[in-house]
Amino acid sequence: MYKSLIDKLEREEILSKEEYLTLIKNRDKCFDYLSERARAVREKHYGKSVFIRGLIEFSNYCKNDCYYCGIRRSNKNAQRYRLTPEEIFECACQGYSLGFRTFVLQGGEDAYFTDDIFCSIIKKIKSQYPDCAVTLSLGERSFESLKKLKEAGADRYLLRHETCNKEHYKKLHPSQMSFEKRQECIRNLKALGYQVGVGFMVGSPYQSEENLAQEMLYLKSINPQMVGIGPFLSHRDTPFCDFENGDAQLTLFMLSLIRLTLPRVLLPSTTALGTADSLGREKGFLAGANVTMPNLSPKSVRKKYMLYDNKICTGDEAAQCIECLKARVKSTGYEIVTDRGDYRYEI
Ligand code: 5AD
Ligand code: FES
Repeated sequence: MYKSLIDKLEREEILSKEEYLTLIKNRDKCFDYLSERARAVREKHYGKSVFIRGLIEFSNYCKNDCYYCGIRRSNKNAQRYRLTPEEIFECACQGYSLGFRTFVLQGGEDAYFTDDIFCSIIKKIKSQYPDCAVTLSLGERSFESLKKLKEAGADRYLLRHETCNKEHYKKLHPSQMSFEKRQECIRNLKALGYQVGVGFMVGSPYQSEENLAQEMLYLKSINPQMVGIGPFLSHRDTPFCDFENGDAQLTLFMLSLIRLTLPRVLLPSTTALGTADSLGREKGFLAGANVTMPNLSPKSVRKKYMLYDNKICTGDEAAQCIECLKARVKSTGYEIVTDRGDYRYEI
C-alpha cells in the first residue's frame, strides 16, 4: 500500500492530499523505502554532488515580529548588528577563495538597507565574480524593489512561505503580517524571473499532519526551484518559548517526500536540522537533500543571528565550517562541489 503510493510518486504521478496524509501518518513504516527512493531520484538528477551556498547574515534588525523568531522586533535581549557593504563584500571575497560560487545575502527586514545599497552590493559581487550566483533572502519587498534587485544582477530569492494555510499563518504571525502579501511576493518573484525558494518549518506550533499534506500540494502548485525546510526550534525570548521543538525524523521524512514530489528541486540540509540532531545534516543528505549553506558571516556576529536556541556553527570560522562539512558530506558517500549549483531544468 505505502510502497505503491511511493512508486506512484516516483513515476511523477500526482498524489491527493489524502494519499500524502496516509504516508505522513504511517511514516514509521515507510521511512526506509521512501528515503531510499528519494536518494535514487536525487542521484538520477544530481549524481553524488552536494552544492554549497555561502550564507552572509548581514543584519539582525527586523521590523517584523514573528512569534517563532529570535530576532523579532520585540526581543529586547537580541544584540542588534548590521554589516557594512564593505564587510558584506569582504565575506564574499573570503567565500570565493574557499570555493563558494553562490552567495546568499540573508537578513531581517532592515529598512537601513535600501534598494540602492543592495543594488550596489549585488553589482559589486557580480562584477568581481561573474561566475557566481547571488541569492537574496531579504523578506518581503515590493514588486518595484524586487525588479531593481533583479536588474542589478540577483539570480535567486529565498522567501519561505512558512505555511500554506491562512489560519495557521495567523497563528504564527501578528496581525500586521499578511498571508496574502507573502503569497503575492512569491508570485512577483516568479514573474520577475528569479529562481525561487519557498519553505516552512516542520513541527511549528499548531501545525497538523493535515497541514503537512497540504504543504505538498502547495509545493507542487508553486513548483519552486528551491525548498528550505527545517524543524521548528524554540527560542527562549519569543512567545513560542514553551512549545516543543519540531522532530528531526519527521523533517527527514518531509525532505524525502519533497524530493519525490519535486524531483529536480534544490533542497538544503539545514542548520536547524543539524541543531535538532547532531547528525541531522548527514541524515538530510541521505534523505534526498543536495545543498548545504555554511555560514560566511564574521565570527564576531555569528552568535547574534540566533533565530532559535542552541544554533550550531556559531563559534567557528567559515574555513572551519567548510572543512567540517566536507568531512560530514563525505561520510555519507556524497561530495561537495565548487559550482554555482543551478537548478537542472528538463531539456
Ligand atoms: N526555528 C526554526 N526555524 C526558524 N526560522 C525562524 N525562526 C525559527 C525557529 N525558531 C526560519 C523561518 C525563516 C528562516 C529564515 O528561518 O522559516 O523563514
Ligand atoms: Fe560549521 Fe561543522 S559545519 S562547524
